[in-house]
Amino acid sequence: MAETWANVPESGADLHLDLSGEGSLRGRLMRALREAIRSGRLAPGTRLPPHRSLAHDLGIARNTVANAYAELVEEGWLYARQGSGTRVARRATPLPLDRARPSLHPHRPRVAHSLMPSSPDAAAFPRSAWLTSTRRAVAAAPNDAFGVGDPRGRAELREALAEYLARARGVRTEPDRIVVCSGFAHALQLLGGVLTAGPVAVESYGLDFHRELFEGAGRRTVPLSVDSHGARIDELPGTGARAVLLTPAHQFPTGGPLHPERRAAVVDWARSHGGLVLEDDYDGEFRYDRQPVGAVQGLDPDRIVYLGSASKSLSPALRLGWMVLPPWLVDEIVAAKGPREIWSSAIDQLALADFIACGAYDRHLRRMRRHYRRRRDQLVGTLAERAPHIQVSGIAAGLHAVLELPEDTEAEALRAARRRGLALDGLGPYRHPDSAMPRREGLVIGYGTPPDHAFAAALEALCLTLPDPPGGGRSGAARPDGT
Ligand SMILES: Cc1ncc(COP(=O)(O)O)c(C=O)c1O
Repeated sequence: MAETWANVPESGADLHLDLSGEGSLRGRLMRALREAIRSGRLAPGTRLPPHRSLAHDLGIARNTVANAYAELVEEGWLYARQGSGTRVARRATPLPLDRARPSLHPHRPRVAHSLMPSSPDAAAFPRSAWLTSTRRAVAAAPNDAFGVGDPRGRAELREALAEYLARARGVRTEPDRIVVCSGFAHALQLLGGVLTAGPVAVESYGLDFHRELFEGAGRRTVPLSVDSHGARIDELPGTGARAVLLTPAHQFPTGGPLHPERRAAVVDWARSHGGLVLEDDYDGEFRYDRQPVGAVQGLDPDRIVYLGSASKSLSPALRLGWMVLPPWLVDEIVAAKGPREIWSSAIDQLALADFIACGAYDRHLRRMRRHYRRRRDQLVGTLAERAPHIQVSGIAAGLHAVLELPEDTEAEALRAARRRGLALDGLGPYRHPDSAMPRREGLVIGYGTPPDHAFAAALEALCLTLPDPPGGGRSGAARPDGT
């Protein structure tokens, strides 16, 4: 017997004891109990299990436990009192955690402010509405919800999504064409495994780890240039790709929607080349100056896979996403997921279904749209005042903006940010290594990320980080480009 679990009375908690090693059983039990006390797993005052029950849990003689306790009492680790059993001594306090354990991230730079573009405002998660939906969903769920799950996802969620996506995003679907996944990244992984051979075209600027997911599935990625109208669809035929990944509502990270002519052109390409369009609608709900741009999928649901996620609208911690698939692809994707749901919690799926169906999702999105719009206005206003020589782009939608920087200044701006404890990204890492388009320099600012109380200080740190205008002196007018 090397290790086992014992039950701690009063709390009813399990206690893990490792009895491996040399020496007598009594000695090994004493060592395990000392370790549990020293590390704080057994807090001062905790009552230890009675001899009989610990002996039973560990499969050892009662006397062995009694003798071990008695010796630890003599050593001062434990104390025993008539009628109240044996407890951990008050003075047997563990070392403070930071002295007891080395840091897991000893060289991680200090982060005082974060404007990283990867997260929504985590402080704005609708905790109480989510709890209400979870409670209601769990109470109403049929028993089968607590068994092994269907890899397509819960029917309740697929029905709620079909209604919501048609109404809010112009997606043409039925619940049967929706497959739930563990966020967009999981969808890419699954799609990478089933796409026809050949490279996958991606935008020249995009998330490197999304490219890596394709590459991990054995698909080479080829870059399309990106300009102020989005991805250059006219380059697609020359790539030899049969699939293309796009962010049409809000190009990530440069900002700006795919121009209507290019939306039509990509559908034409898919039809004439037997191609497949993967539409990443990661923040499609957040558009500030006019109605959200609808999904391209509505133009041809047989050639376009619509990919959505709760990561920006609610939280990346939920790990919930959805694919709206052409009918001919559904079975293949479900087969790729496997015979049972091993990714997404059925309970979270039911909670999200309720959250959408009761209107809480729409209310949350309306509230967050106002919230992020205020943030965006504050960012643009602050820069107009403090750094008017910096052009801001990609501000009409989403939770991030790009600050265009003069040539050869991005690396220094990032170093300056790091010195101030400001976490943010430059455009550089998003660029596809094979892209032939001219290199852009800039900072990608996730203005949705900080909680309210920290936003002004993050903006201040940002202003102090930006390069001075050529020739020194900060003057002129901001030129938000309005895309
Ligand atoms: C470009 C882009 N696509 C998709 C997503 C969603 O990813 P996931 O659902 O895997 O968290 C994000 C991040 O939220 C993103 O930035």
